[in-house]
Parts: sequence; structure tokens; C-alpha cells
Amino acid sequence: MTNFEEPINGTINYLFDPNILEEIDWSKIKCNFQNGVSYKKPGDGLVVRPLRDDDIHRDYLLLMSQLTKVGIVTEEQFKKRFEDMKRCEGTYYILVIEDKSTNKIVGSSSLIFEQKFIHSAGQRGRIEDVVVNGDYRGKQLGKLLVQLLVLLGELLGVYKLSLECKHDKVGFYENFGFAKDDQAFMIRRFIEKN
Ligand SMILES: CC(C)(COP(=O)(O)OP(=O)(O)OC[C@H]1O[C@@H](n2cnc3c(N)ncnc32)[C@H](O)[C@@H]1OP(=O)(O)O)[C@@H](O)C(=O)NCCC(=O)NCCS
Repeated sequence: MTNFEEPINGTINYLFDPNILEEIDWSKIKCNFQNGVSYKKPGDGLVVRPLRDDDIHRDYLLLMSQLTKVGIVTEEQFKKRFEDMKRCEGTYYILVIEDKSTNKIVGSSSLIFEQKFIHSAGQRGRIEDVVVNGDYRGKQLGKLLVQLLVLLGELLGVYKLSLECKHDKVGFYENFGFAKDDQAFMIRRFIEKN
């Protein structure tokens, strides 16, 4: 058990083992955090932890709706998707920030690993779905989530990390060592962009 939280009713079902976060080498951070903000001290009443199977009750999907269209997702669908992800060991790392004073998820970001034969049977990582609740922006939480996932990717041995973002977010991601390169990003959509 880590210092993130104690079980209240029964077992806590995390998407991945929270102890991995303890192994992150925080001295490797690439950006500056003011006021001693770190993953152990994200802010008053806040905790950083892996997604849990009951976070649908902590407004996780409402938070995601600040990023994109979520659609209708039942609790059953949420739990099934969670378990499907969890079964793919070493693949899905969704980090969230919970405000313990309101029991709401106020930030989230995902790191997804893609297993390869190339690069000596290596793995690449993709950062996805970075979002902080509008009431909590500007408090270094987005930076904290992305920085943690970059360090986690490094810890777990990716040969590269990539992400797609809107042009106005390029400066944000440059904070962590991401850079634009000469490759084109191509996409074919099967549903309309909202
Ligand atoms: C992008 C987002 C996650 C940032 O989260 P946040 O918690 O408000 O950001 P932080 O407080 O951690 O700020 C991070 C730093 O990046 C800087 N920053 C923020 N947006 C930036 C941008 N577009 N370009 C350059 N720098 C930026 C901030 O000035 C801050 O710098 P500082 O610490 O030196 O003052 C948040 O605005 C959000 O959820 N937006 C809506 C969803 C979204 O667009 N997600 C990104 C999808 S690619």
C-alpha cells in the first residue's frame, strides 16, 4: 500500500500498481514546479493516483467531457473497459488527480504503451487525453500529470514518446522535452470531430 489513500470499503481496484509511482526518479524532471509542487504534494486535499474502477462515481467522465465528446457510457461499460485495459498488463497507465475534499477527479492523463518487434523488441509510448478541470487550471496540475507520465515512460523503458496536440498546446508540451519533427501527422476519421 502506498501513501496515496487507505481502503475504506473493501479493496481498491487500481488500473495499475500505484507502487510504480514510488520508483519514479523525480530528480529527472525537465520543467520547473513552483511552491514545492510534486506528485506527493500536488496541492491541498489533492492526491495523484492511478484510475480506479469506481472513478465513474467521482465525475471522471464529466472531466473527460472538458476534453472531448464522451457520449453515453454506462457504469457497466466503464467497468468492462477498465477491466479490458487492466488485463493488457503493462499497456494502460491512466493517472488521475482526486480532490479528496469533494471526492471528484479533477485531472487525468494517459500513457499507452505499444509493443514492437523493431528497436530490439522495444516499446513506444503515447501520451493521450490530458485534461484538468477548468476550476483547477493554472495550478501546475497539467504539468504534473504530463511530467509524471514522461518519467514513467522513461522508467518503463520506452524508446520514444509521442503525442498529438492542438497547435496552441505545443509550447505546453515543449516544457517536457517534446519537439515537433518533420513527420506529417495523418488521420482518417470515422466519426465527425465535435
Ligand atoms: C492543457 C491543460 C491540461 C493544462 O493544464 P493546467 O493545469 O492548466 O496547466 P498548468 O497549471 O500545469 O500549467 C502548465 C504550464 O504550462 C504553461 N502553459 C499552459 N498552456 C500553455 C500553452 N498553450 N503554451 C505554452 N505554455 C502553456 C503555463 O503557463 C504553465 O507554465 P508555468 O508553470 O511556467 O507558469 C489544461 O489547460 C486543459 O485541461 N485544457 C483543456 C483540455 C486540453 O486542451 N488538453 C490538451 C489536449 S492536447
